[in-house]
Amino acid sequence: MTSFTFRKASSSDLDGVLSVQAVVFPAFQEAKATFAERLRLYPDGFFVVEEGGDIKGYLVSYPVRRPEPPPLDTLIGAISPDCDAYYVHDLSLLPAMRGRGAAVAMIEAMTGVARNAGFTAMVLTAVGGADIFWRRFGFATVSVPALEARLLAYGADAVYMERSF
Ligand SMILES: CC(C)(COP(=O)(O)OP(=O)(O)OC[C@H]1O[C@@H](n2cnc3c(N)ncnc32)[C@H](O)[C@@H]1OP(=O)(O)O)[C@@H](O)C(=O)NCCC(=O)NCCS
Repeated sequence: MTSFTFRKASSSDLDGVLSVQAVVFPAFQEAKATFAERLRLYPDGFFVVEEGGDIKGYLVSYPVRRPEPPPLDTLIGAISPDCDAYYVHDLSLLPAMRGRGAAVAMIEAMTGVARNAGFTAMVLTAVGGADIFWRRFGFATVSVPALEARLLAYGADAVYMERSF
């Protein structure tokens, strides 16, 4: 089996990122402009997995102010100067890339970025039952009534999670 590499994303990767999202999250497609904005605002937190010259997965992450993960497919304009947590916006791998260590590799790299930036908390919205996966990395579900309506946009099983590190 060919081995994969992972690295920081560049703007020329965005079409590949969109094609992965179309397969993994067809119901939650975001615009290219949304990904491009996150890449521009926080390039250190945007990783891609590449194999055979193709993008086969990605991780998008950046600082936020709790408890405000931005709504789906929304431009945020800027990274607020008073961010108090590090947000995992999206982690997606094509099915053929799963179970091969790519997710762990990107999560470890992202955690290093967050630590180096001085953060001690990480937050995310887990969808489709993925909270089981995130618990392995120390994330726990947190109930935030103010976020309930926003979570519903991700499906009835979406949960908000936090991790201290
Ligand atoms: C989540 C994801 C990136 C993990 O990558 P991976 O390479 O499969 O991760 P690992 O091999 O390290 O671990 C996979 C484990 O997590 C579990 N898992 C992953 N997603 C899950 C889900 N949605 N529901 C339940 N379990 C899930 C797998 O069943 C597997 O468990 P096992 O080891 O007991 O078999 C990948 O499965 C994926 O892209 N899933 C679809 C997108 C997604 O759900 N992203 C997270 C959104 S919050």
